[in-house]
Amino acid sequence: MLVPQVQLGQATFNRQSSVSRLPSVEVTVYPYECDTYGHMNEAAYLQLFERARWEALARGPGPDLFRRHGVWPAARHATVDYQLPAFPGDVLRVELETGKIGRTSLELHQRATRIKDGALVAELQIVFVMIDGEGKPTPIPPEIATIFGGRLSARPGELVRHDVGGVALAVDTRGDGPALLFVHGFPLDHSMWAHQVATLARWRRIAPDLRGAGVSDAPDGGYSVATYADDLVRLLDRLHIEHAVVAGHSMGGYIAFEMLRRHRSRVTGLILVDTRAEADSAEARKGREGMMEVARTQGAAAVAERMVPRLLGRSTQQTQPNVVEQVKAMIGRTPVPGIVGALGAMRDRPDSTPLLATIDVPTLVVVGAEDELVPPATSRAMAAAIPSAAMRTIPGAGHLAPLEAPTAVTRVIAEFLEALPRP
Ligand code: MLT
Repeated sequence: MLVPQVQLGQATFNRQSSVSRLPSVEVTVYPYECDTYGHMNEAAYLQLFERARWEALARGPGPDLFRRHGVWPAARHATVDYQLPAFPGDVLRVELETGKIGRTSLELHQRATRIKDGALVAELQIVFVMIDGEGKPTPIPPEIATIFGGRLSARPGELVRHDVGGVALAVDTRGDGPALLFVHGFPLDHSMWAHQVATLARWRRIAPDLRGAGVSDAPDGGYSVATYADDLVRLLDRLHIEHAVVAGHSMGGYIAFEMLRRHRSRVTGLILVDTRAEADSAEARKGREGMMEVARTQGAAAVAERMVPRLLGRSTQQTQPNVVEQVKAMIGRTPVPGIVGALGAMRDRPDSTPLLATIDVPTLVVVGAEDELVPPATSRAMAAAIPSAAMRTIPGAGHLAPLEAPTAVTRVIAEFLEALPRP
């Protein structure tokens, strides 16, 4: 990264940084970096922080990250804040956070702490402008923004759009740790997982709206469980995630099965909620066509009116009017092309029963005790067919257990995750 113009003094750092995907690194203070009194001077600090940035890039996405995208980060402004002296031989841990990120500019914060006692030695606030080969400011490529954390949801619940190949998915991404991908059911969106996404700390939670759902793009065609699965794997690619535990609710479970069929190496665990392995019966297929017609001719609100009584358990319908309204609103805002596309995708999905015996990742099956669309007996049979799957039934919940009984569902998922070996 180019040598910055130096400004020294007491910096007031913006603490509302977002998490960068770059690792923290350790750097040793060399004798030549210190002045005649043994202290690090400002130029030495700038070099040390720069060394740490390149080291972090080398251990993460690679030192050619910028060249790969034909851009270069030119440092425009830097402020070092001194806290303590550092001497030759001191080993410092340097952490990096992303501050503000604009279309072409990126603000980074680096903190150097002494390994031996954890004391904060110095901080750097530095602003880069992304330039092209001719030195002109250019938009920060999405991959680079993602790596620096700038495209992560900055505030809880904030959705960020990720292009997965001609279609943009809106994604709620939170936390750090091994990846946990939440795949919603039909005709819902990522917000059905709100409690789980807000609560399961120590995991990097990724909750997208599928194509045609929520505020993701809703193309007129191109819906199938295979397309949904490929979209999600492209999303993982964009977020630089190699493996994820996949939690699929109902249609999200059908998609999780397809991820296993098409991208098995990306799935390290499965959480199957209110879902089934069998394909649609002839009668169910006819039902899909009828619902497509309702969506096309009467819109999403009419679909909501028909579906809500079947999606929610009787206890929820009697005692949680707010959940009833929430689900109606969620369905009501689903784009009609997305509803029609998802119905066709579910109608045409393959039978996943033969897959069950081959599932060799830790698996949890969860079902609402009052689920009428996927009765507990169906879930029990599915769990029994998966080698060493655990099964949990959620009292008082129907087909939308994660929303109807959020705390109970989060608890069983947390217990399952706790037992997994951490990479
Ligand atoms: C869902 O909740 O995703 C759907 O109800 C599943 C289905 O209709 O098969």
